[in-house]
Amino acid sequence: MVKQKKSKVTISEILNKKKNKEKITMLTSYDYSISHICNEADLDIVLIGDSAATVMLGYDTTRKIGMEEMLTFCKGVANGITRPLIVADMPFGSYQTDKSNSVRNALKFLRYGCDGVKLEGGWEIVDIIKNLTGLGIPVMGHIGLKPQTTPLHHGYGLQGKTAEDAVMLIREARALEEAGVFSIVLEKVTSEVSSVITQIVKVPIIGIGSGPHVDGQVLVIHDMLGLFKDMEPKFVKRYLNMADQIFDAIKQYENEVKSGKFPQEEHTYHMTEEEYAKLEKMLKRV
Ligand code: KIV
Repeated sequence: MVKQKKSKVTISEILNKKKNKEKITMLTSYDYSISHICNEADLDIVLIGDSAATVMLGYDTTRKIGMEEMLTFCKGVANGITRPLIVADMPFGSYQTDKSNSVRNALKFLRYGCDGVKLEGGWEIVDIIKNLTGLGIPVMGHIGLKPQTTPLHHGYGLQGKTAEDAVMLIREARALEEAGVFSIVLEKVTSEVSSVITQIVKVPIIGIGSGPHVDGQVLVIHDMLGLFKDMEPKFVKRYLNMADQIFDAIKQYENEVKSGKFPQEEHTYHMTEEEYAKLEKMLKRV
């Protein structure tokens, strides 16, 4: 029997998941090979996060990544995906300056194969988001801990610890909903507050470090695969220890090349016997 190809995930499907109480699955990806696996695994959403700044480029902050770098990652991801919704983070400085600049940059992401963009920020960018969604550009919001700016003021601490902070976050989430976002990422927010926001707001709330009472979860793929040994936030669950596995494989390869154990006969190509005999004759003449 021919395997039926699953169709592309749509924004309506993402919205319906909340109505039907089905959890939304989302992971970051930045290249073709991992995206291809995410596609096969049937994730709902693949995010080209600006976390690419730190995990792919080694910058010390997500503020350092620019449009060109983000768009290059988008190319690889879009080539590997047929089904999940593809959302890209708009990098710091690409949407805050003015509305037309934000539209121009958002459209670049759509042209590179993304289905929507994610913007970090609350009150300060509500008008920019409203303008983008009014033009039909799908936008995902991102509040709570906003790695582009929060650390400048308060470090990477937990958000929504006090009742006052909670009310502010709830109001911000509602403002984003009114501005037309199709979902909101809530980063490092107390479980109580994310649960309230999830109940109050109609669009799906996708949590990272915000507990289980949300509509879906997202993680940075490098974190859940254990690609960095020294980074272990409490909210990350490591499903693999890839840093150790990759290290062991590289060491084994190194040892086998040095000792002559690799390559073996099964990794080797040969000439035909006739051609080799011909070569030997030619070499004698030389
Ligand atoms: O940049 C990123 O990877 C993100 C996720 C952590 C939500 O914004």
